Amino acid sequence: MKVVVTKNYEESCKFVAKEIIDLVNSIPDAKIGLATGGTAQNVYPHLIKAYEDKKVDFKNVSTINLDEYIGIDPENPLSYRYCMDNWFFNHVNIDKANTYVPCGLNDIESEIKTFNEKLYGDKLLDFQLLGIGVNGHIGFNEPHDSLTAGVHIENLDESTIKANSRFFDSPDDVPRKSITMGVGDIMKAAKIVLIATGDNKVEVMKALLMNDYVTTKIPATILKLHRDVTIVIDEDLAKKAGYVK
Ligand code: PGA
Repeated sequence: MKVVVTKNYEESCKFVAKEIIDLVNSIPDAKIGLATGGTAQNVYPHLIKAYEDKKVDFKNVSTINLDEYIGIDPENPLSYRYCMDNWFFNHVNIDKANTYVPCGLNDIESEIKTFNEKLYGDKLLDFQLLGIGVNGHIGFNEPHDSLTAGVHIENLDESTIKANSRFFDSPDDVPRKSITMGVGDIMKAAKIVLIATGDNKVEVMKALLMNDYVTTKIPATILKLHRDVTIVIDEDLAKKAGYVK
């Protein structure tokens, strides 16, 4: 794994945006896996700015999002479809027909089928953007005795419900289930970039950066098996995790 330590979170977002911009400039029809979550959110304004400055063209790009809550309407401002439209897609020249965010309202079996068709119907993902959960989840792949390789339904971990309750009126309102890419789907991306910031990520970053273990109890550690992963963290988090002095 390559680790990039930036001065601060804003610089991390700029770095990650530049990775995506460079990718699209070299592969104009790039197929990109995207992420929601508070950390990834601030990458998107940099992509929009680059588009406005004519430094990148999203016309032929296609995207697939990692996950979505089950039971949530795509029109709901807390759905990941709504977030992606408003954070990114509505502000650039991407063809919305080429963006896929799983739908949490559809029949589950048929949505899993659609998700797989999107992932594997043409080429594999050129790039996958990831955040990381406080428990080390990637997508909504929560810690278990074993992990699931393919697209599946996941029960949200108590720690995830607590962490995501900041976006809802109360923890009771956080959906309990999600549809997510499995770890195998994520690992098939040619290149993976994970962005993390904040004190609540110190323990998982220690597990990711300060030893050589791979454990299903901290799903992100599977990334140690991938040949092109970049972890982007700010100096503050890198220091607290013991990665830099
Ligand atoms: P966060 O979420 O960026 O809002 O902390 C990341 C994740 O849960 O993957």
